[in-house]
Amino acid sequence: MFIANGDYSLLQGNYLFSEIAKRTAAFKANHPRAELIRMGIGDCTRPLVPAVVDAMHRAVDEMGDIATFRGYGPDFGYDFLREAILNRDYLKRGIRIDVDEIFVSDGAKCDVANISELFSKDCIVGIVDPVYPVYLDTNVMAGRSGRYDPKLRGYERIVYLPAVEQNGFVPDLPQVPVDVLYLCYPNNPTGQTLSKEQLKRFVDWANACGAVIIYDSAYEAYIRSVDIPHSIFEIDGAKTCAIEIRSMSKTAGFTGTRCSYSVVPRELVRKDSLNNTVSLHDLWARRMSTKFNGVSYITQVGAAAAYSDEGYAQLTGVVDFYMENARIIREGMERAGYTVYGGQNAPYVWIKAPHGDSWRFFNEILEGHHIIGTPGAGFGAAGEGYFRMTAFASRENTLAAMRRIGG
Ligand code: MLT
Repeated sequence: MFIANGDYSLLQGNYLFSEIAKRTAAFKANHPRAELIRMGIGDCTRPLVPAVVDAMHRAVDEMGDIATFRGYGPDFGYDFLREAILNRDYLKRGIRIDVDEIFVSDGAKCDVANISELFSKDCIVGIVDPVYPVYLDTNVMAGRSGRYDPKLRGYERIVYLPAVEQNGFVPDLPQVPVDVLYLCYPNNPTGQTLSKEQLKRFVDWANACGAVIIYDSAYEAYIRSVDIPHSIFEIDGAKTCAIEIRSMSKTAGFTGTRCSYSVVPRELVRKDSLNNTVSLHDLWARRMSTKFNGVSYITQVGAAAAYSDEGYAQLTGVVDFYMENARIIREGMERAGYTVYGGQNAPYVWIKAPHGDSWRFFNEILEGHHIIGTPGAGFGAAGEGYFRMTAFASRENTLAAMRRIGG
């Protein structure tokens, strides 16, 4: 008899953004005339830049011609894209990694979820709280969480590192054993960053105790301050303890086009549950070649065009556009009397809900101003009392939202 995976029953509620979509649809059904402004999910609104569009058109033509048609691509991505990534994201920043340490994939969310197949079931997982919900939920699904304790608002076997106002939204090092730690910087949802010194502390901790850091830097393009690291591999020692996951979604408007990559260094070696010494690079390579057939040629050509000088200049303009929205939100919400964090090196603005209840604030903003944001509680217990707004709306909607709120 088939028995379903009971770990799914340990999940709390719906996936956050599905829950918001459900509530938004219900509100829209009851208020069909309301002009909603969507600042909830971080989904791009600017189109693909011309260099990407032109390259993809050419790739479509190639695929329609018998002389240039391509079937399956290389498992880990075409060399033209892996080399473009290597050059712009790493070598130009003085970071040395090898091209074969780059694995092209179809989204950071998928890689963040799939990478957990490399952890033994017994690994203790550490997450920052509040956090992008995928780190937690995928480990719950994989049976690594233990039971949910409603009093603690957390799972028994997950180690939570609070990132709250009191510590400047920078978590302390784990005080109990943690085998895998997820870090996301610039941070979703708080919009905070780590300095090199702060990130070095995590790298040193991981090397000292044999932990692995899963470093999600999907928002690195939004960093404005020159001294903030874009990659964990800027930090000495990171290659023996970290995997970095990057996305084209927020950098090049690929939320609907799908392309990302992960860097798994060859030096990242650990024992497995059978006491073999294994390279996580080789495990990930095996996983990708067994379970994944690669990102479409057309998408990879478009992604490579985003790395060309022309494409990169164009998408920098788009990122600047969103960061101007972030400034408008930050300053607008401050003028309206709210305490506001983030939005300076990230496309997310983290706002303190005046009465400390984030779902109540979500409802007030939705019903009072017809604006959709994201309640902080959806990112974890320490997100309670906050509200996230994204800078990905159009300029017109961003300005209109601030006028509606009184900023
Ligand atoms: C967010 O709004 O947090 C992200 O856009 C969700 C995602 O990237 O999956």
